Amino acid sequence: MMIPEILENLKHELIHGFSKRKHPFRYFSFGTIQNNNVSLRTVVLRKVLPDFTTIIYTDTRSQKVAHIKKNNTVSALFYHPKKLLQIRLDGKAIVVTDKEELKPFWSAVGENAKKDYTTALAPGAIINNPDAVNYSDNEPNFCIIKIIPNHIEYLQLKRPNHIRVGFDKTENGFKGSFLVP
Ligand SMILES: Cc1cc2nc3c(=O)[nH]c(=O)nc-3n(C[C@H](O)[C@H](O)[C@H](O)COP(=O)(O)O)c2cc1C
Repeated sequence: MMIPEILENLKHELIHGFSKRKHPFRYFSFGTIQNNNVSLRTVVLRKVLPDFTTIIYTDTRSQKVAHIKKNNTVSALFYHPKKLLQIRLDGKAIVVTDKEELKPFWSAVGENAKKDYTTALAPGAIINNPDAVNYSDNEPNFCIIKIIPNHIEYLQLKRPNHIRVGFDKTENGFKGSFLVP
């Protein structure tokens, strides 16, 4: 495979990650920086745009949002176990709270899941047991995070050669180079 083909392949895998229910990219590891510490958590892939902007949903009160407000450097790690394929997006994040922009995303959230964004206490607050979560009638604390990659790493382990490509964002899209795996 040539580099442009690999970029297309990579994009298809990411798009399948949110459009195909059982695709392993549906859940990925999302990293933020808290002071000088790495902070990782699993999130659901909601959308990938043609320019690789990648969207997740979260609570405006979550730690990841606070981290991004202080330091918007983030990373997203995807792994496909059957294909032995790893994709990493490194870049900057934007927290979107504008109501108009959120509308189409909020309306796609299932009725049960909507409740998750209305807990009386912020995510991470201490409770006595898992039943002890109260919900409020206030506006939901829903927001989206846009991950805007400036570097993409592709690694596929296979015989005879592993394939690793590093892509950097340029004015004309992502430009890749083969790398020693
Ligand atoms: C399978 C799975 C999917 C998850 N998806 C999301 C998600 O899409 N958005 C989110 O904010 N948290 C999601 N979480 C919870 C996060 O992993 C994390 O615990 C939570 O968001 C708090 O993280 P923070 O305190 O670092 O912000 C998910 C957890 C699991 C186990």
